[in-house]
Amino acid sequence: MKNFITLADCTTKELWGLIDLAVHLKFEWKSGGNRPVMNGKVLAMVFEKPSLRTRVSFEVAMLQLGGHAIRIGPDEIGLGKRESIADAARVLSVYSQGIMARVFDHSYIEELADWAGIPVINGLSDTHHPCQAMGDMLTIYEHYGHLERLKVAYIGDGNNMAASLALAAAHFGMHFTIASPEGYQLPASAFEEAAPVAERNGGKLEAFTDPAEAAANANIIYTDTWVSMGQEEETEARLKVMQPYQVNDALLQHANKYAIVMHCLPAHRGQEITDEVADGPQSVIFPQAENRLHMQKAILVELMA
Ligand code: CP
Ligand code: NVA
Repeated sequence: MKNFITLADCTTKELWGLIDLAVHLKFEWKSGGNRPVMNGKVLAMVFEKPSLRTRVSFEVAMLQLGGHAIRIGPDEIGLGKRESIADAARVLSVYSQGIMARVFDHSYIEELADWAGIPVINGLSDTHHPCQAMGDMLTIYEHYGHLERLKVAYIGDGNNMAASLALAAAHFGMHFTIASPEGYQLPASAFEEAAPVAERNGGKLEAFTDPAEAAANANIIYTDTWVSMGQEEETEARLKVMQPYQVNDALLQHANKYAIVMHCLPAHRGQEITDEVADGPQSVIFPQAENRLHMQKAILVELMA
């Protein structure tokens, strides 16, 4: 693997390799061992949007691997404004050995990768969130002991998270369903990207407007914010139309009785998820957040070590 930009660019074998490596790195770290394979290496982390998990987990990952991470905030580079993406990529490549970027426009990540002589990792764009989706696969794998044939139901906005989850599910032969209101569905392009992957791996993708239909007998119920970063002006309209898509006790009744509940966080409690469900016995949202760290260590080792 050269970069980690979308799960559409990766082979299923590479993604299984990441799961395997993450499991090993997690076990190693928890047993008191470490692998200082990033000794002297620096990850440049470029943020156009805010972050808690992505920023801290990448920084801690580099630290645990013996390297260092530098956060470059939204007011610093001015990607494409103060400085061209091509120039910024070439400059970052002389100081650091890897770039992780969180951007609005997905093409910015691709352009960074075109110009950087070092690996580029997508830490979220308007259309993809591959690090989160792979951390989530690790969480599901740890819980169930396998991935294939599990049914994951995503309830709510057809956003970046949903697109990456659909791709991940497709790679691992899962049954992915999504329920979203009209006008907020996963774009056709996301289905077109994931469909051939699902076909190759025995996965299945289905879209609904009725959340109960999508959730029927699901092993995993997944949700995310109704208003993603950059959509703040649409808040009122979105909150109104998404109400029936709340993940609450009533919705959970449709899922398998042993289903787990996932959320990439940050959660808007009382909107897309209730406190009862987020803090309930089926929720795995905090182990899920922890696994960002272990999965990203695997991604960093694969690309930069
Ligand atoms: N889930 C996630 O990416 O969280 P942050 O936006 O806080 O990084
Ligand atoms: N869909 C959300 C994910 C946050 C991690 C957003 O883009 O804001």
